[in-house]
Amino acid sequence: MQRFEQQTAIVTGSANGIGLATARRLASEGAAVIIADLDLAAAQQAAQEIREAGGTALALPLDVTSRSQVETMLATVLAHYPQVDVLCNIAGIAHGAPFLEIPDDKWRQTLDVNLTGVFLCSQIVARHMVERKIAGRIVNMASTNGLVAEKNMTHYNASKFGVVGLTMTMAIDLAPYNIRVNSVCPGLIRTRLTQSAIANPEWSADYLKKIPLNRFGEPTEVAAAVAYLASTDSGFITGHQLVIDGGQLTF
Ligand SMILES: NC(=O)c1ccc[n+]([C@@H]2O[C@H](COP(=O)([O-])OP(=O)(O)OC[C@H]3O[C@@H](n4cnc5c(N)ncnc54)[C@H](O)[C@@H]3O)[C@@H](O)[C@H]2O)c1
Repeated sequence: MQRFEQQTAIVTGSANGIGLATARRLASEGAAVIIADLDLAAAQQAAQEIREAGGTALALPLDVTSRSQVETMLATVLAHYPQVDVLCNIAGIAHGAPFLEIPDDKWRQTLDVNLTGVFLCSQIVARHMVERKIAGRIVNMASTNGLVAEKNMTHYNASKFGVVGLTMTMAIDLAPYNIRVNSVCPGLIRTRLTQSAIANPEWSADYLKKIPLNRFGEPTEVAAAVAYLASTDSGFITGHQLVIDGGQLTF
């Protein structure tokens, strides 16, 4: 099934991890994907792999915290493709620290990338969608940390709770333009962000007790959920937070 034939999707943070899995998934379903990432070398490598697999992909440099860079990125996309149909805001960072020890720069950086980045990319791309009357879809990366708290993750939790609020409110404001906005809330997914924690057998065994399915998630499993929310299969869903956590939040 080619759900994204003739469509263009921007995926931020798609040089690695969940973003990369999302770009691959959308490309495999016919989308022209924009690999927009801070790490241009890795983005170019990812785009090359997608093209070699028969997909369509373009790598572009992007720091999601910069309005001018997001505007330049969109202008470049529109020089290559007629319009943007889908925006997946996946770029994100995570630093752990006890609340009493969080330095100002880590607080600001986490909020800048994880929350302000989603705002900037969404506002700039949504303005384009409204102007062109595109029935666009925006999928934001929240987290289970956007719904419940986790020790030593105050700044990350604040950013992801912010993404949930942003998603719900954007969904209301953009609904009159037929633009749908949803978020995904993954639990623990195997990526480089989590690899050092997962590599610790004691930590892993302890954490797995919290997950009814008794395993960590894979980036492809989040990508499948993002693709669903980005497709017309989810046509009556907006302002929703889709949890992908092996049942962790049921406790
Ligand atoms: N891995 C998990 O368990 C998990 C769980 C829930 C949510 N998430 C979220 O999923 C997203 C992706 O995480 P991941 O685990 O794939 O991490 P990752 O580190 O593998 O990938 C993140 C990507 O974002 C890019 N990036 C970072 N800052 C950027 C910026 N300012 N502008 C543009 N790109 C930037 C990085 O270069 C990288 O390619 C993040 O938002 C993260 O918070 C991850």
